[in-house]
Amino acid sequence: MRKVRTLGLLGTGVIGGGWAARALHFGIDVLAADLKPEMEDWIRGAVANAEAALARLTLAPLPPKGKLSFTTDLHAMARQADFIQENIPEQLELKQRVLADVSRYAPPDVVIASSTSGLMPSDLQQGMVAPERFLVAHPFNPVYLLPLVELVGGRQTAAAALHAAARFFTYIGMHPLRVRREVPGHLTDRLQEALWREILHMVNEDVATTGELDDSIVYGPGLRWAGMGTNLIYHLAGGETGMRHMLRQFGPALKWPWTKLEAPELTEELIDKMVAGTQAQAAGRSIRELERLRDDYLVAIQQVLREYNIGAGATLRSLEERLYEESAAAARERIRSAAGPETAARAGEPLRLLETSVRPEWVDYNGHMTDSRYLQVFGDATDALFRYAGVDEAYRRSGRALYTVETHVSHKAEARALEPLYVTTRVLEVGDQHVRLAHALHRRRDDALVAGAEQVYVHVSTPTGKAAPMDAAVRARLAQLEVS
Ligand SMILES: NC(=O)c1ccc[n+]([C@@H]2O[C@H](COP(=O)([O-])OP(=O)(O)OC[C@H]3O[C@@H](n4cnc5c(N)ncnc54)[C@H](O)[C@@H]3O)[C@@H](O)[C@H]2O)c1
Repeated sequence: MRKVRTLGLLGTGVIGGGWAARALHFGIDVLAADLKPEMEDWIRGAVANAEAALARLTLAPLPPKGKLSFTTDLHAMARQADFIQENIPEQLELKQRVLADVSRYAPPDVVIASSTSGLMPSDLQQGMVAPERFLVAHPFNPVYLLPLVELVGGRQTAAAALHAAARFFTYIGMHPLRVRREVPGHLTDRLQEALWREILHMVNEDVATTGELDDSIVYGPGLRWAGMGTNLIYHLAGGETGMRHMLRQFGPALKWPWTKLEAPELTEELIDKMVAGTQAQAAGRSIRELERLRDDYLVAIQQVLREYNIGAGATLRSLEERLYEESAAAARERIRSAAGPETAARAGEPLRLLETSVRPEWVDYNGHMTDSRYLQVFGDATDALFRYAGVDEAYRRSGRALYTVETHVSHKAEARALEPLYVTTRVLEVGDQHVRLAHALHRRRDDALVAGAEQVYVHVSTPTGKAAPMDAAVRARLAQLEVS
């Protein structure tokens, strides 16, 4: 299976738009195809709308954004894409026909995945050319913020296709969940459907309003679910003996009529109640307004969960680790050539360590990059340098780290939103327990100096929190770059 540089989208509605925003953000080009030409405006709008929240998800250095193109020629898309994600309406025959058609134009090493919420991959892949490269990859709305994607293979799906898809989705910051066996509705929608059926029953029988039922989740189980699922939560509910005790204590309730699960008849009266209930909950707010609110708290929750390395926060953490590592890898090559023996005379020359640009949300009320972001970009350049010297995640886990103890920043010119920038760094001094660096932040378009910074870092033993000598190899690598 090939490396994915261009993601082809088949159908560019709500889900296609979400895939586009996520892929572009993490540096993948997107070729979006839809039968309706007016969907071009829609998908561009959807991507722009997603950007506000997506840009705040992680501050790690990102690759340059991908490029978005649009076509109504599905065959042209199939010929050019390295990976195709289908997101057309949930109708078996339509999907079968379109997938079979597109599979005739996509080279056989191009994975084709369907976003279907509940159709079975074996049914979808029937008429395709090279059906072994087909699988279901079921995402969740908003695709650009929720990391979960369920991967389901059909009878003819090759393990290599599932593997390649998992690798690609991880690359764009997702958590691929391999579903062992195809079942209608996959895993998540079966669970959601059970809750949904009970909701419809309770509204139908006037037991509760839509708002009260939402409160029954939001103020309780919903808070738990972001970090732990029902099974682990119930294990905790059993006290010291966990799940065994829990099943003994609450087991009898399974025989009581707590749930119905059979869906009620969708009468006009029930539909009216559901609509009136949710309209009351929306309290005059538009869908766009509510989406922004949802996106903002989804970003905030993932950042909190990152601290605890749990659920979506663990996915975010490993994504960031890779982004820092990739940015450092590019810098490493440049440092190596500057530190080589034949160029020893160049030691002390500024090393170009970081390429970045001013993200729109970094800008203050004067329209310029705000103060705290200077520290962040200098910090990212330092990170690249220290990783080169061997101070990486493993080094930090071994109880050693470099802490900032002093920073002086001087501002020389302005940097506005989206301005491309780069940072150069010189190693001014290396001791047993400290490093002194000088950074310079430049505008890429005219190389003008935007700001300079001098920073001192102390090497510490993290368990004691006290200064301690750094690893000899780390020190030697930094010393090679020291200004003579
Ligand atoms: N909306 C959700 O929350 C959600 C979540 C996960 C998965 N899904 C699944 O994603 C798929 C798409 O759902 P959606 O909500 O984005 O639907 P949507 O109606 O918003 O978008 C469907 C798009 O497909 C286009 N289309 C229709 N026929 C086409 C064809 N023959 N060729 C190319 N384009 C065509 C339409 O013009 C439209 O733009 C469905 O299978 C759905 O089950 C939806």
